[in-house]
This record gives sequence, structure tokens and C-alpha cells, in this order.
Amino acid sequence: MNEFELFPEAASSFAGEVDLLYWFLTIVSVIFTVGIALALLYLGIRYRRKSEDEPAPEEIHGSNLLEIVWSVIPLILAFVMFFWGAHLFFKMRTVPADAMEILVTGKQWMWKLQHPNGKREINNLHVPLGQPVKCTMTSEDVIHSFYVPEFRVKQDVLPGRYTQLWFTPTKIGTYHLFCAEFCGTEHSRMGGKVYVMTPSDYESWLEGGADASLSPVEAGELLFTSLGCATCHHDGKNSQGPNLAGVFGTMQPLDSGGEILADENYIKDSMMNPQGQIVRGYPKVMPSFKGMVTDAQITQIIAYLKSIAGTEEADSTTDEETPESPESALLNDALEPDTTGQRYVRMEQ
Ligand code: CUA
Repeated sequence: MNEFELFPEAASSFAGEVDLLYWFLTIVSVIFTVGIALALLYLGIRYRRKSEDEPAPEEIHGSNLLEIVWSVIPLILAFVMFFWGAHLFFKMRTVPADAMEILVTGKQWMWKLQHPNGKREINNLHVPLGQPVKCTMTSEDVIHSFYVPEFRVKQDVLPGRYTQLWFTPTKIGTYHLFCAEFCGTEHSRMGGKVYVMTPSDYESWLEGGADASLSPVEAGELLFTSLGCATCHHDGKNSQGPNLAGVFGTMQPLDSGGEILADENYIKDSMMNPQGQIVRGYPKVMPSFKGMVTDAQITQIIAYLKSIAGTEEADSTTDEETPESPESALLNDALEPDTTGQRYVRMEQ
């Protein structure tokens, strides 16, 4: 952001119309506010009682013209606002038949989204330019609210029922996705990005996995953020899960007693069945990512976790031998010995 902006970018077919109505309301309000204030000031001075012996002014009774003027003008203005607003409201509630449907699930504290072909994302939404998009939304827990300011759309997302919202993106770019209903401690961080892409870019995004030009570590890092892992796995206050820097390859104490080596299999198991073997001292809140990530993506996330394994205090359990770089290990297909030389990583595609 370079300078203070009154309005977010206008990036949907509604944006211009919503802004216009908003401007109308603002200008009418300003005219009346300023007009009334100035009249007050002027009349107060003009007709003030100038001396003690000046007689009190006579009251005026009944002026039909005045009464009609101050009733009819506000009535007309109110009608304009009502019908204009209602017209826009109906337009925003009437989903076009050719809209592409995105399934949205709100959950403390993330947005889960699914595309028509089954592809899922978390806290990110990719949509094609110029295509009406309908979001069919529900919540797994409390009331959330799906809000994209640049599209001028906002809709509550409720547990136990479906709500809808639609928009047609009109501008390539990256926009904000917010939760606009207070839903708990992490409410302010429940959000992400909406990416508006050309239809052909969207098609290839739908087909493809992570960007082919990224290394597994880079792709894994992107996934770690976009899937919302970073929301809980951090060091800060309110972290719901352990910070994962320095964890890979170390022994971790389990809630059920004993310890486990944090290796590829453990990380994959933790994503698929988070409550199975939980690290001691953490709440059982992690959602399962079963079906939401491909094996290739899991592999990339593991590559990323390996890459940050040495960033905290050096762990004592790593081997002396120089480990193969995670990138090269993961780029090779089939079975690869991991750095301990004992366990094997299954490379599935
Ligand atoms: Cu979800 Cu606020």
C-alpha cells in the first residue's frame, strides 16, 4: 500500500455499482449535515436576542408550503435509496445459471474451499477472470463471514445451513479474503487471498499441482502457508501446535507416553490422522488433511520441514554423515533412503 485509500480496489462486477450507491448516500448525508450546521450557525447569529428589552419573537403557525417541501424532498431521497439499494440487493442475491460453484467451509480458523473438479485449497481461492462464481458456504462450528472487500461481497457463513454469495471478477490480481464475524481468538487471522487469473491460467492451475518451476522445498513452504499450517505451527502466543523448525529428525514426546522419531512417516501420519499420535502438551485441534493434499504435496511439505530442521537449536540426533539435500532426494523417484539411512521414504505420485 502506497497511500491512504478510501476504497479498496474495485475488482468485481458489483464493485462500481456498490460504490456509486455508497457515494450517493455519502453525498446526501454530507449535504444535509453541512447544510444544517451552516443554517444553525447563521440563524443563531442572525436572529439572536440582541438586547434585554427586545421582545420575544412571535411564533409562526402553519405553512403548508414549508411542510410539503420538508416532507416530500426527504421522502423522495429515501425512496431513491430504498429502491436503488433493493435493486442492487436482488441483483447480488440472484445467482446466474452459468455460475461456477465453489464449496466453502468455514472452521475455526480457516477457510476450506473446493473447486468443481474436486481440487481443494485452504485460505486461498483461485478464480478465472470474467466468470461468475457462486460460493456455497457452511460452517463446521461457529458463525463466520466470508468477505472479499475488493469484490464488495460479504455473507455470513452459518453452522447447519448453507448460504450463498456470488461475484464476477473483473480484474486480474490478488485480493483479500477475510472472516468478518468474530469467531474466536484467531478470528483476525482467519483469511487469505483470492487470486483472479486468466481463464487459461486458471485451467492450468486446476490441472497442475504446485508450480513446476519451484523446488520441492519452495513448493512445500508455499503449501505450508497456503494450507494454513503456519497459522498454528509457530512460536508466538496462541500457537495451537509446535513450531516445526528444528523438529524433523528429532525424537518427540507423545501425549500417550513414549516418544517417536519425527520422520517422513510420522509427518504424513500427523497430517492424515492428526489425533493419532499427538505431541505432548498440545491440544487435539488439528484438522485432518486427508484428501486435501496429494502425496506429491505431502512430499513437498516434508521437504520444507527438512529444510528448516537445522534452523533452531541444532538437534543432537542427526547423523554425522552429510545428508543428501532434501531437494535432490525428493526429485528422485521411487524409494530413497532418508538421512538416517534406516528408514525409507515412499515416493508416491
Ligand atoms: Cu471466522 Cu471470524
